[in-house]
Order: sequence, then structure tokens, then C-alpha cells
Amino acid sequence: MDAIRGLLRFPLDRLERLLGTVFPAHWNPLFNLGALGFFFYWVITVSGIYIYIFFDTGIHEAYQSIEYMTNEQWYLAGVMRSLHRYASDALIICLLLHMAREFSLGRYRGARWFSWVTGIAAMMLIYMAGISGYWLVWDKLAQYVAIVSTEWLDWLPIFGEPVARNFLAPGSLDNRFFTLMIFLHIAVPLFALAVLWMHLQRVVKPVINPPRGLAAGSFLSMLALSLVLPAVSQGPADLARVPGNVGLDWIYLPLFPLLERLPGSVTWSAAMAVFLILITIPVLPPMKRSAAAVVDLGNCNGCTRCDLDCPYEAIAMVERKDDSPFSMMPQVSASLCVGCGICAGSCPTSMPFRRRADLSPGIDLPDFTMAMLRDEVEAVAKRISGPGRLIVFSCQHGVRASDVKHGSCAAVSLRCIGQLPPSFIDYVLSRDLADGVLLAGCKENDCYNRFGLRWTEDRLAGQRDPHLRARVDRRRLKTVWCGAGGNAWLDAELAAFSQEMASLESLPGKAHAQAPRVKEDAAHG
Ligand code: HEM
Ligand code: SF4
Ligand code: SF4
Repeated sequence: MDAIRGLLRFPLDRLERLLGTVFPAHWNPLFNLGALGFFFYWVITVSGIYIYIFFDTGIHEAYQSIEYMTNEQWYLAGVMRSLHRYASDALIICLLLHMAREFSLGRYRGARWFSWVTGIAAMMLIYMAGISGYWLVWDKLAQYVAIVSTEWLDWLPIFGEPVARNFLAPGSLDNRFFTLMIFLHIAVPLFALAVLWMHLQRVVKPVINPPRGLAAGSFLSMLALSLVLPAVSQGPADLARVPGNVGLDWIYLPLFPLLERLPGSVTWSAAMAVFLILITIPVLPPMKRSAAAVVDLGNCNGCTRCDLDCPYEAIAMVERKDDSPFSMMPQVSASLCVGCGICAGSCPTSMPFRRRADLSPGIDLPDFTMAMLRDEVEAVAKRISGPGRLIVFSCQHGVRASDVKHGSCAAVSLRCIGQLPPSFIDYVLSRDLADGVLLAGCKENDCYNRFGLRWTEDRLAGQRDPHLRARVDRRRLKTVWCGAGGNAWLDAELAAFSQEMASLESLPGKAHAQAPRVKEDAAHG
């Protein structure tokens, strides 16, 4: 599975870099695929409502009404028809990229299985809705799509009478059929919307609107395409003839030539196999789960920061029933917790300045405690020497700690960059364990744990608790959000930063303050 993910990642990374040369980071379409999906859905809905006003559901009138929109009222209804078509295509492209990307980044397992499975269901419904839309035009393509899809469905003995028979002779189709199709074409997308609502139930603070500029740019591109290359029909359907040489929509209908040529046994088996693989990959092979965060009530003051910062809604603040002066306490749901450690990074009691026995925060990861983290920091500090010593805190989803090769640097791997309490940066610098600290994480707007990077930036900027103390010399701190494929970028940054720190050290008098070696309390400033 890792090999397939690696294979997918390569073209996706290249595409991301390419788009990165055109769009500012937060506009990069690859970072906004889910939100763009919703945007295209709304464009389809509005344009669909408009063309429905002019659409006639009669067997003969359907084609005529669409021709009227395309030719007589091309400036509005025709453009709406084209927008409807192009937004539907864009939705599928977006959705396939969204799916490929979540898979390639490993964001489909563990706590995310629910989003993955509901995503598959939404995708199937959206395909069904799109294909049913092609029937409504009732041109030659519609006839082809109707015959191939019903013959395919007829292979399963679910309908008493073969449905395909309706399309093989003139007179066998009536208006009721079109009414049924239009009903399906409206009901299926509405059902898909309900599934999409479920899709986001386990996603905390989902981004469902793309940046305005990106939305406007996408809309204007589709509008321009609608004017330059309007969607047109392919001549009226004629049940007396077998439709030949139809132009296919390769986004919705690429498998139709295969469905037409291969036996139903082969195509149905292949479809079932793909479906089973897609639906089971979140759990097969079983994922090794990290231990869930554990609360230590003796050190918890009920400040709620862990609850606010958890990206998986795995923490609930509940009433505290012991004789503590604090009224609330966090409760961790082990089934939702992925062990990212962001809660420990946000807890005011995660203070490395404390004595070992006291370094037990209100919430911590049992298999990677703050005490272990401090031990590791101290161990790697002993391995670095010379001018420009750096300690790198790297997220396990970004560049691997073992890949950090620069001479006077050593890296500590974290579950997420958000696991790092800012006080650790203060600790490293004030104890002179290194001359500089570099944080390496996922790409901007693309944190594996969704908020680890954002919370870290806010903490460093003093906009979110716990703050990085004012006394920390900001020149000695650098962040490089380079992601897993960013080794070369990180190496270059490390070399430059190390040199910068070496020259800072050579200035008369040390530029950074030395912290007193006394136990500190949880206050920040
Ligand atoms: C029209 C279809 C879809 C739409 C509109 C959509 C939309 C979204 C949105 C808005 C998010 C939240 C993104 C964020 O805020 O970070 C999301 C998350 C997600 N989607 Fe989709 N999605 C669709 C289809 C799919 C499909 C087909 C799959 C895969 C089979 C999928 C897999 C996921 C996963 C795994 C997440 C969770 C990501 C996380 O927890 O970080 N989605 N989707
Ligand atoms: S470890 Fe991560 S998922 Fe678990 S409670 Fe803490 S923040 Fe939430
Ligand atoms: S952040 Fe720490 S002190 Fe605050 S509620 Fe959570 S465990 Fe308790």
C-alpha cells in the first residue's frame, strides 16, 4: 500500500509545485479540493434550477427544450447549461484528486475511516447523478448512455423485465420515463448532499468554502469556457437506429466503451472488486494505533486548552466531581484519539523546566511523554557541537528526523509539530543546548493533523496559549513548513540558519538570554 501511495504522491507533488508557481499558497487548488467540490456543487445546483425552468419532460419535447436553451437563449440558458456541464466535470476532477490526495497522504485510515467511506458513497451518488443528467438531453449520446447502462444493469436479475428493451424500439418509451429520470436527477444529488453532511461529521472545523479569489477564478474560467465552447447536443435520439459515433464525456463516461464490449460477468466482478478494495482499505491491513492521551487530574486546572486544540474532537470537558477547586476536567475518547499529542503541546503544565518527577502535564501521551521528549532533546543536544548548533523539531509526517543530515544539527521527531509546547524552545535556548531551534513540519495549509501547524504558528506569534515567552530571541528560531518531500529545501535552510547562528555566536556577548535554572510555574508571557 505504501508503494502505491508513493507512486501517487509523485505526480501529485509535481502538480502541487506547478500550481504553487501560479497560485499563492492558501489558494493552491490542491489544498482546497473539498471546499472546491462544494463550490462546484452549488454552481451545479443554481444552474440546474435555472435550466429546469425551461426543460420539458416530454419524450419529444425534452430534446427540443434543450435546443431552445442552447440556440435561442444561448446568452443565459445556454450559458447555464454549459456551466452545469463544466461544473459537473470540474466536480469529478476535484473529487478524484481529493480522493487520490487523501489516500497518498495516508489521511484515510484510523479516525478518518468514516470520512473515507462516506466520501466513496458520495462519489458513487455524484457519478449516478451525472450519468442520469446525460439521459435527460435525449440526444444520440443520451440514447447510447441509456442503452449501455440499462444493458449493464439488466445483467443483474433485479428487474423483472429487461429495462434496456425500452430503448431498442420506437414507441416503447413514454413521458413517465422522463419524469422518473428527472426525479432521479434531482433526488440523487440531494441524497449525495446528505451523505456529504455525514462526510464532515467527524471533521473538526471543516473548510467548505474555498478562498474567494479561487472561487471567482474557477467560476470565471468555467464561464469563459461556456462562451467559447458551449455544451451542445449530438442530434436527437432515434430509437429506430443504433447510435453510432457518439462523442463521449471522458470524465463521466470513460468506462462506457468497456461496459459495452466486455461481458457483464467481467465488468460487474471488476466493479465489485474495486468497490470492496476502496471500502476496506481504511482498515486493511489493520493500522497500528498510538496509545490515546491520558489525563492526570493532579496536574489539570481545567483550563480547556486541550479541548480547544484537539483536531479530532477526542476531548470533552466534563464536570469534575472530586474535591478539587477546579470545576471541569477533560475526558479523552480513546476511540477518537489518534495520539497526535497536540493536547499535550497546548497544556500549560507541559513545562520542561520542571524537575523530572514534576514533568507530568495535565494531559500527555503515555507512549511519548513530555518527560521522554525532554530526555530526547537533552540526548541529541549532546551529539551536536561546533558553531551554529541547531536542534530540529520535526513532525513525523514531514521530513524524517533521520533524514536531517546537516553537520551541526540533530533532530527530534514529534507526532505532530503541534505536540511541541513553546516552552521547549525556550528550554533549548536558555539552557544553551543549541544555538538555534528549527521547526520542520507539513506544508503550509496542509498539516496532517489539520491544525498542528496553525496552532504552532499562533502560539509562536503569541496569539494562542501557550505563548512562546517574550524573552526568547526570535532570531534563533526558524520554521520550515516543507512537508515530507522537502529534504532539499530543509537542507538548504539548515545550512543557512546554522551559518547565521554561528555568526550570531561570534558577536561580542551572547545574543540570547540565559534562563535561571529554577523550577518555573505554568505562567507564560
Ligand atoms: C463531492 C464530494 C466531496 C466533497 C464535496 C468533499 C468535501 C470535503 C471537505 C470540505 C473536507 C474537509 C476538508 C478540510 O477542511 O480539511 C473533506 C474531508 C475529507 N474527505 Fe472529502 N469530499 C468529497 C468526496 C470525498 C471522497 C470521494 C473521498 C474519498 C473516498 C473523500 C475523503 C475525505 C477524507 C478522508 C477527509 C478527511 C480529511 C481530514 O480529516 O483531514 N472525500 N471532504
Ligand atoms: S492526542 Fe491528539 S487526538 Fe488525542 S486527545 Fe490529544 S489532541 Fe486529541
Ligand atoms: S490543557 Fe492541561 S490543564 Fe488545561 S484542561 Fe487540558 S489537561 Fe487540564
